[in-house]
Amino acid sequence: MSRPGRNDPCWCGSERKYKKCHLLSDDAGTTAPPAPALSQRVATRPAPTKNAHLILDEAGRQGMRAAGRFNAELMDYIRPLVLPGVRTDELDRLVHEYTLDHGHIPATLGYHDFPKSCCTSVNEVVCHGIPDGQVLREGDAINVDLTTIVDGWFGDQSETILVGETTETLRNLVSETLECLHLGIAAIKPGGRIIDIGHAIARHAHAHQYSVVRDYQGHGIGRKFHQDPGVPHFPDHELGQFVVQPGMCFTIEPMINLGSHRTVLDKHDGWTVRTADGKISAQFEHTLLMTEDGPEILTLTQNGPQRGHRF
Ligand code: MF3
Ligand code: CO
Ligand code: CO
Repeated sequence: MSRPGRNDPCWCGSERKYKKCHLLSDDAGTTAPPAPALSQRVATRPAPTKNAHLILDEAGRQGMRAAGRFNAELMDYIRPLVLPGVRTDELDRLVHEYTLDHGHIPATLGYHDFPKSCCTSVNEVVCHGIPDGQVLREGDAINVDLTTIVDGWFGDQSETILVGETTETLRNLVSETLECLHLGIAAIKPGGRIIDIGHAIARHAHAHQYSVVRDYQGHGIGRKFHQDPGVPHFPDHELGQFVVQPGMCFTIEPMINLGSHRTVLDKHDGWTVRTADGKISAQFEHTLLMTEDGPEILTLTQNGPQRGHRF
């Protein structure tokens, strides 16, 4: 086997250029001490697993930490500006400008032709709402979903924010949806399976007579917005078999409904997802890094609702 060219894909299956991946460490092996025979090296190198490219080294982990940290700062910036009388496209403009002012890129803008720099999903909108001229009113529940690209790495998170005074029914839904997110996080261990997340979330949601959206799910994340593994928020016996290893990043982002779990996609804009029955849906999302010691939340905010918060 000859070595890849500097700009060719690395032999290890990481999908990175050789020069950005194993070139240096391979070089180290060919100087002092002398490299073992190639057959020996191949024999002792652990066989690359199918998902080796999803496992980040220390530099990749630091890249994801920086992306998550900026994304969380952006959430802390926008949260207090979500007020009655504000238009969702005004929030979008603020998100856009804050991101560019800090030298970063809003990931949703132009993503599969999505036209805005964040998603704003109000009341019965489950996810992927497009910021527009809609004016927020007292009693609304709006999910603001922010995704930023920082030095090529993606951070992704969302919060449901209550506008002014709302009903107890709505406050309970939002509180338990936040709890679902944190139960999902607590359920996943290094070497554990994705299905552990869905079990924990669905158990809690169903205990409160809520339903769990099945048509949209969390996702692996890194240098791409969406990648393996898929992260269903209910016990999906197929995708759920995926084993989460240290170095992997993914989101958990349960969408929990007051009524039916069924959703309808808007025929006209091709993005807005609503509950089929028009009842309210809530969502929270974090980006996570699985470490050797358990999941690390990369998008933790300073001022946002923490685990156990009640609205
Ligand atoms: N941020 C969403 C997620 O959590 C994805 C939005 S994609 C968009 O995965 F195109 F709708 F913006
Ligand atoms: Co996401
Ligand atoms: Co998101």
